[in-house]
Amino acid sequence: MEGRQRALDLRVRIEKANEEYYLQDRPSLPDAEYDRLLQELCELEKQYPELQSPDSPTQRVGGYVAKEFSKVQHTQPLLSLDNAFQAEDLRDFDARVRSVAPDARYIAELKIDGLTLALTYENGLLIRAATRGDGETGEEITANVKTIASIPLRLKAGPLKLDVRGEGYMPKASFARLNQEREEEGLRVFANPRNAAAGSLRQLDSRETAKRKLDYFAYQVLEAEGQGLKTQEESLRFLGRLGFVVNPEYQVLATIEEVIVYCEKMAQERHQLPYDIDGVVIKVNEAEHQRELGFTSKSPRWAIAYKFPAEQVETVLRDVFVRVGRTGVLTPTAILTPVFVAGSTVSRATLHNEDYIAEKDIRIGDTVLVEKAGDIIPEVIKTIPEKRTGREVLFRMPEHCPECGGAVVREEGEAARRCTGISCPARQREAIIHFASRDAMNIDRLGPAVVQRLLEAELIHDAADLYSLRQEELVQAERLAEKSAAHLLQAIEESKQRGLAPLIFALGIRHAGEKAGKILAKTFGTMEKLQTASLEELQIIPDIGPVMAASIFNFFQQEGTTDFLRRLRQAGVTMQATEARQPQIFAGLSIVVTGVLTRWNRQEAEAMIEERGGKAAGSVSKKTAFVVVGENAGSKLAKAGELGIKVLTEEEFMAMLGAEDGS
Ligand code: IVH
Repeated sequence: MEGRQRALDLRVRIEKANEEYYLQDRPSLPDAEYDRLLQELCELEKQYPELQSPDSPTQRVGGYVAKEFSKVQHTQPLLSLDNAFQAEDLRDFDARVRSVAPDARYIAELKIDGLTLALTYENGLLIRAATRGDGETGEEITANVKTIASIPLRLKAGPLKLDVRGEGYMPKASFARLNQEREEEGLRVFANPRNAAAGSLRQLDSRETAKRKLDYFAYQVLEAEGQGLKTQEESLRFLGRLGFVVNPEYQVLATIEEVIVYCEKMAQERHQLPYDIDGVVIKVNEAEHQRELGFTSKSPRWAIAYKFPAEQVETVLRDVFVRVGRTGVLTPTAILTPVFVAGSTVSRATLHNEDYIAEKDIRIGDTVLVEKAGDIIPEVIKTIPEKRTGREVLFRMPEHCPECGGAVVREEGEAARRCTGISCPARQREAIIHFASRDAMNIDRLGPAVVQRLLEAELIHDAADLYSLRQEELVQAERLAEKSAAHLLQAIEESKQRGLAPLIFALGIRHAGEKAGKILAKTFGTMEKLQTASLEELQIIPDIGPVMAASIFNFFQQEGTTDFLRRLRQAGVTMQATEARQPQIFAGLSIVVTGVLTRWNRQEAEAMIEERGGKAAGSVSKKTAFVVVGENAGSKLAKAGELGIKVLTEEEFMAMLGAEDGS
């Protein structure tokens, strides 16, 4: 058969290209050509299903993951490592090791900043991939992991049974590209490659994961029957022979002093690497010594993770700018001479509050030390008084709000000054940004820049106005393209169903965080009951302290609050706690129901999709995740076939919902 031969040829070419790209680091095929070959193979396999197999490169293209990720028990617990922060900690580790195994050697490997992925192979085929989870059980994310092109679907050395542990990560270049795209689309950007990698691997639609271009370094053989691996170095070589990518920077070293030199060198060179690392993992090289050393309940005694110190750099504090937050808090922010620190250029850093500035005697014009807390948020950590010229000036917090001119107060027991202006534009803006944020109403695409534009165009004044926005207005409003406007409106519409707990949190009541939202939703069940609760009723709730109770009570006493909630209610925002809110397994997916269903009518099926976060669409397009077909389905089914969209029977759909037969 011609098709079969062509499919085999394609497979060989694609696999060769993969190998050249990932293992030999010398790409031979232009990306577009690669994509074209893969597409052709996909089509052939669709035409001749007998050509499909679990190790075909088409398995990496992805598709819709049937349901929420299921839990898997790891064959061996995935332990974590003890941390070392300085050379002394490493010398202590060495002393402990040498007391048991005096002639141990070390292998130092880079500590890749991604997330642990455990891979299971049977008969040489990748059958399961899981996250670390709590170390005992993780989440099964096989379909997503298969999209990582550097992970072999079939081992090179034949039908082995093997458990491998390694790090899934997003290369810096993929991260930069992804964030740029997201910014252009008005989506939230990821804080760092690790978060981006984690988010990408938790996609329900693995086609999305495939686009994110993740990568993998294998570093541990958990179980390999009869391989007789005597050292970690042999394990790494073995992994390489099986077709895994092993990080090439590892070194076998005889003494801890050599290890310390390696750590210092890597701390210097880390920013030149094409991926993020956050330290060095030091392991005893010999398997025999590893066995002698054994484990504590949490971690092996034969390994330790050396964490790089947060990088600090010197720069000049040129000015202090005061930002006004959602609750009116004034935060002093340092304007710095731009410097490069921990992988990016920093020109602003937080100064926390006026006490912090006074305590550290930080002055405008000072040379200061800047560090990235947790390697993300820049912070001024100290000033260098020896470098003063005498021209530095003390900073004073303003007596009036820099945005609305309203009075600023500092309440007893608080470090922060706060603007009291009810209609302070900064507070309003921040309140809307908070309302839309992820853990609140989660209105994707409504980031700070869009909020600012909507306010400037006077399309909204507060968050309730979001629900009466119209497409034409949005398009007319500066720089909002038709497509983005439609997406935004859809996200706003979806937020109506978010539920009571996130809504309470979204209101931005002082002292009441996300957890308080959940407690209040559970206690009162509806917004009406919460609105009319007495101070005493609030005070007796466990976990709600007196300050928070008073703040909640006062919030609902305000006239503005009642009016605001009335407008939300009129817009159709859910104000009731749904006892058992459905897991959001269809979040972001567009699903079409067609034909006559036997168990539900179409409206019911569509409601079930929407309760689970999906969109029940009227017509089939390229964006459709799948089509549920009942009897006598017509043109929509045909269209799905044409576009190659997945089709589910009513039974399959039910299985996805986890519904019992007939329920
Ligand atoms: S060895 C028992 N090697 O760092 C052995 N871990 O706690 C445990 N990591 O979450 C892991 N690069 O995901 C090892 N070369 C490397 C690593 C590495 C990154 C991560 C790992 C774990 C954490 C250590």
